[in-house]
Amino acid sequence: MPFDPFQNTLPRARLIFPLDLPTKSAALNYVELLKGSVGFFKVGLELFSSQGPSIIEEIRSLAPEVGIFLDLKLHDIPATISRAMEAIARLGVHMTTVHAQGGPEMLRAAVKAAGQTKVLAVTLLTSLAPAAMQELAPDYRAPGALALHLAKRAVATSCHGVVASPLETLLLREHLGDEPILVTPGIRPSWAQVSSDDQSRTGTPAQALADGASYLVVGRPIRDAKDPLKAAQRILAELASS
Ligand code: C5P
Repeated sequence: MPFDPFQNTLPRARLIFPLDLPTKSAALNYVELLKGSVGFFKVGLELFSSQGPSIIEEIRSLAPEVGIFLDLKLHDIPATISRAMEAIARLGVHMTTVHAQGGPEMLRAAVKAAGQTKVLAVTLLTSLAPAAMQELAPDYRAPGALALHLAKRAVATSCHGVVASPLETLLLREHLGDEPILVTPGIRPSWAQVSSDDQSRTGTPAQALADGASYLVVGRPIRDAKDPLKAAQRILAELASS
């Protein structure tokens, strides 16, 4: 892995654009358009399932100076995770995800098999509304308490970082210290208009950064903007001046 996106200190290095797109050509169009404005492209379930692992190399050859984050949110028994992670490590992606709720043995197996790929643990999906959270874990009064519990366990089992909503970013940074990577999805610039939004725990880019996020996942506010490049650059300008 010759290119190291973690050493990049430009504002764009903080932005992760999810390639949540149905076809290879749509995804690669966004790669071409945004490669000078983001730090990572995120390949999620939609694109990976439709295009297969070869999409990683296609993105890399179009944008060799952008990191690749393979966000499959794996959650399975340790033996299966270990073998899947070995395959992911061979793809040479920079970051990947597992669910923190898989437990310590699964997390340890993931990190051990991932080689140089950094493993992040997803705490709670940012789409989970308070009522759904209450039903899932009635003993935890605040989502933050559960996210913090999961994040502490993940970092203690040597995960390189966690994924958590903007509402938990400050709490997590305060308790986890400076080192773990904090990836924050659910980012909504004040001017963004996202139709039928399923994210429920959201925050602005500048606030998430001020709260201690390492990287911000910004999807639909860029993807669905009239001018996606302009939207990305507006976010970068906000980050630079915050
Ligand atoms: O900005 P937007 O809501 O479009 O971003 C959606 C992206 O964030 C999706 O790719 C989704 O997988 C990702 N994500 C999330 N919540 C998490 C982890 C990742 O929404 N906890």
